[in-house]
Amino acid sequence: MRPVIIAGNWKMNLSHAEATKLSRGLKNDKPKDGKRAVWVFPSHLHLPSVSEILDGSGISVGLQNFYPSELTAMTGETSPVQAEELGIKLALVGHSERRQFLAETNASCREKINFLLNRKWTVVYCVGESLAERESGRTFEVLSSQIHEGLKDIPSSLFANLVLAYEPVWAIGTGKTATPQIAEEAHAFLRKEIAGLFVGGETIAEAMPILYGGSVKPDNIASLLAEKNIDGGLVGGASQKLESFLGLL
Ligand code: 13P
Repeated sequence: MRPVIIAGNWKMNLSHAEATKLSRGLKNDKPKDGKRAVWVFPSHLHLPSVSEILDGSGISVGLQNFYPSELTAMTGETSPVQAEELGIKLALVGHSERRQFLAETNASCREKINFLLNRKWTVVYCVGESLAERESGRTFEVLSSQIHEGLKDIPSSLFANLVLAYEPVWAIGTGKTATPQIAEEAHAFLRKEIAGLFVGGETIAEAMPILYGGSVKPDNIASLLAEKNIDGGLVGGASQKLESFLGLL
């Protein structure tokens, strides 16, 4: 049985006051049944306050980005070693906004994933095709290269802490959710790709949570989660307001 994970990517939204208020609300009001793992990814400047508020709440805090190195001279960057001081061991890698606007590539994702998995972090590796890629029939080719290049030569023993997020770029922040069928088709494909990476890879692939992201809302999450290969949501907009985050949960 794979866990159900609801992850909120707050992106570069929310002021410090808003992020801390939302964190307090989540801590107080999230369902106590413990049925779902809840993860949040705030801006770096908000990490100390959000981590302190959510300490003991069962909600995990993660990084949206980092530089894959121990402490070093790298102006403007954040090392996972610094985040570990706050108890953080969870990060996103390869979000489409970073691929599209900040020059992140499959190769740079690979370096980041490898660094974190070797430090026993949990990594959410984001993949997904653009609208042009889907319309030209290249969706599976793109997903396949994101998997093969982004995870190249990473030993299977490290895969237990890897989570995938399928985020079709055309569905992010557009209000256009992939239908559960479209998402399921991509998730099943991704699971097959993971299985094919190693001899005996089926067991690893079967255990790996694959989240869907792209205009997930309280009113469409249940139909997405009903699909066999969809194990949770990586949510932008709807995770940034208490009412809709609680609605997702
Ligand atoms: P939206 O939920 O706002 O479409 O964002 C999805 C996303 O990019 C999550 O990482």
